Amino acid sequence: MIPEGGIGAVRWRGGPDGALELIDQTRLPLETEVLTLRTLEGVRDAICRLAVRGAPAIGVAAAFGLWLGIRDAPEDDVGFEEALARAAQRLESARPTAANLAWAVRRVAAAARAAPGAKERKAAAFRAALAILEEDAATCRALGEQGVDLLRGRGRVMTHCNTGGLAAAGSGTALALVFEAARRGLPVSVVACETRPLLQGARLTMWELMRAGVDATLVCDNAAASVMAEGKVDCVLVGADRIARNGDTANKIGTYSLAIVASAHGIPLYVVAPRSTFDLSIADGSEIPIEQRSPEEVTQIGGVRIAPPRARVHAPAFDVTPARLIAGIVTEAGVIAPVGEAAIAAAFAGAKARGAS
Ligand code: MRU
Repeated sequence: MIPEGGIGAVRWRGGPDGALELIDQTRLPLETEVLTLRTLEGVRDAICRLAVRGAPAIGVAAAFGLWLGIRDAPEDDVGFEEALARAAQRLESARPTAANLAWAVRRVAAAARAAPGAKERKAAAFRAALAILEEDAATCRALGEQGVDLLRGRGRVMTHCNTGGLAAAGSGTALALVFEAARRGLPVSVVACETRPLLQGARLTMWELMRAGVDATLVCDNAAASVMAEGKVDCVLVGADRIARNGDTANKIGTYSLAIVASAHGIPLYVVAPRSTFDLSIADGSEIPIEQRSPEEVTQIGGVRIAPPRARVHAPAFDVTPARLIAGIVTEAGVIAPVGEAAIAAAFAGAKARGAS
């Protein structure tokens, strides 16, 4: 079953007084448990512990987290603004790297602030959160359509982390191309890197691809170079958490190594990301904040300690791949290639001219 509209990893149940439902990704693939969240702190906690993860999904969850944080706020101007600012700050501080999180929070907050009175402010915030959810599904579809031709005759894909329906409200980013190719009957197969430390590739990407009936093989991260050397990979497709003005891209730790290895083998690496992942306020990747995770994520696997007690740990969640190692960036509005500041500026100018946000 190829997921056209996503798999409901993040969804809103009911009207304004409803709740956010998330598939708890920490439990997959062994258990499919749905969390029902009614408070901002519940959503923040789910984001921090990666129950919901992947840049677009985090953005959607944070949009509703903001709504949950202000739905019972005082309705006078000062009380409402205080609650809004506090809620926005709590959510934006949950995970620093994914640009979509701050983008979504700011969009919902701006919609509220632009409305004329107390009741309208709350209604506008809820509408903005719903719009982010609905647009994300449409954006995933567009990513798949814009990028699918990259896989014609080059359908043996290697990927890292999870960029499918669990990482978005729709069918995903990089995996959206794979799903679109499969829907069109193009030959496509995926080598999924396991993605230590939290194993999003092994646990989540393999679960999604197998469920969809896509030919998928799991490798440990260390096997990527040898699989490429064996001539078994046509291209590497990855997602992104934040893309700087020059195209430098932060994504799951290990993406940079994969990009170097792909380049050494003459294999193109494409980044697939919605425009909400670009941060045009920063010149290059050196300005991207990199989230540090808890040492236990490295010293343990599945709750079992594998390193000596008190081992010193460095645990960045993301790394930055320089633009020169990226063959192209697929967005919902087209493919940016070659990647560089001028091409990105032109792509955004074109999007504005066509009336896109
Ligand atoms: O720490 P995670 O699991 O949220 O990291 C996710 C990634 O790095 C994804 O590749 C990225 O968010 C793009 S998702 C469509």
